[in-house]
Amino acid sequence: MVIIDKADGTSEEVRTCINGAHFFDGKTVRTIEGHAKRNDQGEVVEFASVQQKFLEHFSFQCGYCTPGFVNATIVLLEKLKRTPIAKDEIETTIMDALNDHICRCTGYVRYYTKP
Ligand code: FES
Repeated sequence: MVIIDKADGTSEEVRTCINGAHFFDGKTVRTIEGHAKRNDQGEVVEFASVQQKFLEHFSFQCGYCTPGFVNATIVLLEKLKRTPIAKDEIETTIMDALNDHICRCTGYVRYYTKP
């Protein structure tokens, strides 16, 4: 899962596993690796705030699904900055944002689902 930045300032998640490389040609792409700040040697010196919170709260699983959750969270936060919602809508909004993510190692089970 990567983030595509659109010309209108919005962003969206896009699956890399079902889209060929040609789909990304000419597009601005953000990957999980690109969120952290790096030094001149390319070493990570500071995680992005969402990455840091995932670590602090042990909210990560594996290298397949965690980038999807982190990128989905970043896209959601950016969307909420542009278009705030009512407080009582936040739980549903989070579920909508994360519902599509699956755990491949358990047979494509969704682990954050709508009730
Ligand atoms: S824990 Fe990441 S896909 Fe299953």
